[in-house]
Amino acid sequence: MAEINIREDFPIFRDNPSLVYLDNAATTQKPSCVIEAVRHFYERDNANPLRGLYDLAQRATAVYEDSREAVAEFIGAAGPEEIVFTRNASESLNLVAYSYGTFLKEGDEILLSVMEHHSNLIPWQQLAVRSGAVLKFIECGVDGRITEEAFRSALSSRTKIVSMTQISNVLGVRNDIRTFARLAHEAGAVFVCDGAQSVPHIPVDVQDLDVDFLAFSGHKMLAPMGIGVLYGKKALLEKMPPFLTGGEMIEYVTREGATWAELPHKFEAGTVNAAGAVGLKTAIEYYRKVGFDAIQKREEELSEQAFDVLSTIPHLHIMGGNTAKEHNGIFSFSLDGVHPHDIAEILNADGVCIRAGHHCAQVLMQHMNVPSTVRASLAFYNREEDILRLAQSLSTVRRRMGYVE
Ligand SMILES: Cc1ncc(COP(=O)(O)O)c(C=O)c1O
Repeated sequence: MAEINIREDFPIFRDNPSLVYLDNAATTQKPSCVIEAVRHFYERDNANPLRGLYDLAQRATAVYEDSREAVAEFIGAAGPEEIVFTRNASESLNLVAYSYGTFLKEGDEILLSVMEHHSNLIPWQQLAVRSGAVLKFIECGVDGRITEEAFRSALSSRTKIVSMTQISNVLGVRNDIRTFARLAHEAGAVFVCDGAQSVPHIPVDVQDLDVDFLAFSGHKMLAPMGIGVLYGKKALLEKMPPFLTGGEMIEYVTREGATWAELPHKFEAGTVNAAGAVGLKTAIEYYRKVGFDAIQKREEELSEQAFDVLSTIPHLHIMGGNTAKEHNGIFSFSLDGVHPHDIAEILNADGVCIRAGHHCAQVLMQHMNVPSTVRASLAFYNREEDILRLAQSLSTVRRRMGYVE
């Protein structure tokens, strides 16, 4: 991959060549083509999609619906009606919990793993409160692995929903979604996959994985903030009630009630984020241009390098797996005697952006018995130099905090 050209595609790096951005699991930077596509929409195609009959509105509708087709193709959905645009992965997961959740009864079980992001935990906790369903958790090992045995033993004939992340935003560990979805189906449950950290980094095919729902965010994959996706199998989406109600999601309205629009519009109330959808389509095109194989190869190389250099820093402990492969470009770690927030401040002073805290995964932190960590997360546009700058800065932190060695 021509690293230098990739960097040129991102204005933030063009304008700040020394910026070391290693918080990609939080959000990625945006290439010029995405920024331009959003601008182009507002300059040339802007009207309220799905409403007006005039040419401009038809064009706005067409580009919005083209984006849906691009997303459907990107994740291997059977058709665009299975793609619901939301604001982000959190909203997608809430949609499933509120809407599919209406089918749950007291005593039914919802199964999650202990490594779920709060966005894939709180909606289910709230559903449990509303429905009387019971929330159960699958444990992971210190390496973050969830074994088939652990999964099987947490599953029961009462399990109605399993919701699990494909890649942990803290440990980087990748769960065997295909196997777990199959086991969930055998037990009569639906399988919801949180793809927020996987869709941007590995090819995800919903039919191959046979998941019932997949949630992800545009902003973690080069697209603008405020556009997210919920994939759902058509047969399930069809029988689910709407989540949000209002304009555009109806078919016919009387004083007393309403009937719902066809899929996927039943789930898209109000004016949509057409510019965001166009930005997401452009991000997908950019992924294709660079090539998923090249992206994965680059991220694997960077991940190896990061694991190697972090492993040599005295007093630094990487949470989770013992090999680079198990991290998928995400490294959470601690440094003896130094609070993660102090590490983040010192790194910031050296121009290195990383994240410190509980990473919206407090249940995992409790499970691993650590209050918080520092997290560095990679993307294909990172340079080897970024990792060296991270390591250089980290190796001075304890000294700068007053430790002798
Ligand atoms: C695994 C995982 N799931 C869900 C989310 C929520 O994404 P968003 O904030 O875009 O809704 C995140 C965000 O960091 C995440 O890492």
